[in-house]
Amino acid sequence: MGVDIGAHSIKVCELSGSPGKVKLERFGIFTLSEAAVIEDELQKPSEITEGIIEALKQANIKSKVVCLGLYGPNTMTKRMNTPEGTKEEIEDHVMWEAEQYITFGADESMIDFFILGENEGGGKDTIVAAAKNDLIDNFGQVVRAAKLIPKVVDLNVIALSNLFEEVVRGNLEEYSNGTLLLDFGAQSTKVIVYKRGGPIFTKEIPVGGSLITEEIQRQMGVSYEEAEDLKTSLDDKGNLPEEILAIINSQVDQHVAEVRKSINFYVTQGSAEKVSYCFVTGGSSLLPGLVDKLSVVAGVPVERLDVFSAIKVDERKLGQNLEQVSAIAPVVMGLALRKFG
Ligand SMILES: Nc1ncnc2c1ncn2[C@@H]1O[C@H](COP(=O)(O)OP(=O)(O)OP(=O)(O)O)[C@@H](O)[C@H]1O
Ligand SMILES: [Mg+2]
Repeated sequence: MGVDIGAHSIKVCELSGSPGKVKLERFGIFTLSEAAVIEDELQKPSEITEGIIEALKQANIKSKVVCLGLYGPNTMTKRMNTPEGTKEEIEDHVMWEAEQYITFGADESMIDFFILGENEGGGKDTIVAAAKNDLIDNFGQVVRAAKLIPKVVDLNVIALSNLFEEVVRGNLEEYSNGTLLLDFGAQSTKVIVYKRGGPIFTKEIPVGGSLITEEIQRQMGVSYEEAEDLKTSLDDKGNLPEEILAIINSQVDQHVAEVRKSINFYVTQGSAEKVSYCFVTGGSSLLPGLVDKLSVVAGVPVERLDVFSAIKVDERKLGQNLEQVSAIAPVVMGLALRKFG
């Protein structure tokens, strides 16, 4: 089971099966009020706890042990080349190097690593992940208050990368040559470059769907909730009102320009780390025009990650729009993929 406390909504899910045969059994969502989460600060902890309980109830989830997702400036990932050696020697090396990368204090952080395998240089390809203790405590508290046991914490970017692997399992070798994953959320856009069996680069850019909501609020003189509604309320023909579409268009342009700066290096011809594919996730990936505009700047094919092409689901039992769930659930599903005893 996974819990993803996003800036816009809390997602919970339960998976069953084994690699290659994963099924989404249950999925629940709770939409948070404005500013319940700012950056990685849980401004309204009691609402968040209530939201987790509500989402669990909606999904009819009874299990208690969860993998909890973390993100934000007090987390980091780093792909390292560690020398050959025993597990202890590798650990020493990781800890020593991690201290130089962790800007939020290695002494006050939890650091973990995963060895992907041998690399060409004779060393080992290793992914290191770290999160500040305070962050783990704060997120853990709201989850425990909902009577859950956060047995494992993971980083959302790693979870997304793991879910991606599960979805493209059949073609993983091809995608491993270089794939860009972009998760367009509410408060931030997560950039992951997947290469040689795992993420080689991760970053969070502070732009997302909230900026569009704010702009609708400002220009239309409406509340946060009303603006959220306007953003996604289609008419009978499946279209948005023209004035809303105009706001979205100009915001999406800025959004794409911002993302472009972060991905430039990876989409440039001749770059040794060039990517060949791009998949997008997140609620804001459903914004009209986003995928097309992104394709133009990325110079590689861009498509929405269709998680249900590989992950089984009983649409009737789920009772929700699959396209919407496919966009917003990848992170929480990636968290739920984690194994723990
Ligand atoms: N169908 C849709 N069309 C356009 N925008 C949408 C749609 N559905 C959701 N959104 C927007 O997507 C955002 C929420 O996406 P998501 O659930 O991925 O974010 P989050 O995980 O809560 O936030 P973050 O990842 O930034 O912490 C909101 O800004 C919401 O308005
Ligand atoms: Mg998110």
